[in-house]
Amino acid sequence: MRLALLLALVPFAAQADDAPDYSKMKVDKLFEALCSSCHGKDLSGGLGGSFLDGEWKHGSTDADIRRNIAEGNEQLGMTAFKNVLSDQQIRSLVIYIREKEKGARDRATDFPKPKPGKVTRTQHEDYKIETIVTDGLQHPWAIAFLPDGSRLVTEKAGRLRLVSADGKLDPRRIEGTPEVIAHGQGGLMEVAVHPDFEKNGWIYLGYSDGWYGDAERRRDPRTITAIVRGRIKDHRWVDEEVIWKTDKKFHTNAGVHFGTRIVFDKGYIYFPVGERGGWHEAQDITNPKGKMYRLHDDGREPEDNPYVGKEGAVKGLWSIGHRNPQGLDMDPRDGSLYSTEHGPRGGDELNWIRPGLNYGWPVITWGMNYDGSPITGITEKEGMEQPVIYWQPSIAACGLDFYRGDLFPKWKNDLFAGALAQKEIRRLRIVDHKVVEQEVVLKDLGRVRDVAGGPDGFIYVVLNDPNWIVRLVPAK
Ligand code: HEC
Repeated sequence: MRLALLLALVPFAAQADDAPDYSKMKVDKLFEALCSSCHGKDLSGGLGGSFLDGEWKHGSTDADIRRNIAEGNEQLGMTAFKNVLSDQQIRSLVIYIREKEKGARDRATDFPKPKPGKVTRTQHEDYKIETIVTDGLQHPWAIAFLPDGSRLVTEKAGRLRLVSADGKLDPRRIEGTPEVIAHGQGGLMEVAVHPDFEKNGWIYLGYSDGWYGDAERRRDPRTITAIVRGRIKDHRWVDEEVIWKTDKKFHTNAGVHFGTRIVFDKGYIYFPVGERGGWHEAQDITNPKGKMYRLHDDGREPEDNPYVGKEGAVKGLWSIGHRNPQGLDMDPRDGSLYSTEHGPRGGDELNWIRPGLNYGWPVITWGMNYDGSPITGITEKEGMEQPVIYWQPSIAACGLDFYRGDLFPKWKNDLFAGALAQKEIRRLRIVDHKVVEQEVVLKDLGRVRDVAGGPDGFIYVVLNDPNWIVRLVPAK
């Protein structure tokens, strides 16, 4: 009896071992196992349609594609996968399909690689590229403008550099800037000039600050973003004051997600600090990581900040639940604050930042892990904000600027978002906090680290790889 039972069980057990465990599969394997037989290994189609040609017979939005995978289409021979796959696996497949679709579109469309002197046509304005600095910068990160027409540029390794009004890069660094521990994605990042600079001379820096676990050999860095201000006199950084630094215990050796941009408004400064790879720390108001901040421009906490008086709340908190925001600007029309944030794969976001709100990372996200495994089953939750838009595939959003100038009148008040991985600048038109137009206006010149409208009305772009500074000038 016992033996018979055992024998009966053996083949069953062996079968279960052979059956692939879809729940542990990365998205590319999942696609190969379940979809490639009909849609092609390279997604170019077969019995089922191609996902690369931009044609969607059964609906083209992410939600449509999700529904088609979940519900299938029995008559046409498309399986319903909702009983086989979880919501997040289906979402991962949508991201995967979108990435491949975008890749195919990019290969097929010949976006004119903007060359100096050559005219690039876009929906509303035509421009030429003028190169400002093409030599001598290493990994530039941010640009800011001084009233005399010169510009300050940060280099990630820790140097603050000066570019004169006529475009000459000063070979010297500004001496005496704070010691920066550059590791991973961190280093000297943001530079911003106080709106009353002519009266007060203040310049603000955002950088990775910290200490070494092994001080002697300067190894094992432990860091987090810090904000200071100072003045420049005779090519030296002087009068330094700390605006925001956090307790040593929050410093980490993670090399990722420093966030860091600075925006001024009405005597306040706003800045994000990334979650430093700490995921759920972004949800904890007693932990500084993964948050947006507002302070008086001298570093004091405003009394009407949303978390003031909450037990253990970190100084300056403005909003929580952020991953890695590296674009920040304020809408000149109504003072709304917007941020772009690097999400996980397929989850980059544009957020409208309001005080006291929770932007959801890592409880909700539209993305998946970089290796194609799921992060969380949910994309929305009560009490957590939805992004204005999210990018699938991810663009690696970095640098954000509302155009305030007059040289491109049809771009007035449009939002320009830089992108590292996609090497793009996206122009977004925002009406009533919604994106009503989105267009790639620059592509493939390099990884876009910062976009900034200059006081001269030109749009400046800080590129990595090549390490250039260029500007968009009207074609005429
Ligand atoms: C047995 C074959 C088969 C398999 C396996 C299969 N599909 Fe399909 N799929 C089809 C057919 C047939 C259609 C309908 C094509 C048409 O209308 O021209 C379709 C349609 C779709 C559509 C809608 C396309 C459109 O044009 O709107 C999506 C999305 C889709 N499949 C995704 C998937 C995914 C993801 C998988 C794997 C999890 C998968 N399919 C597996 C046969 C298959």
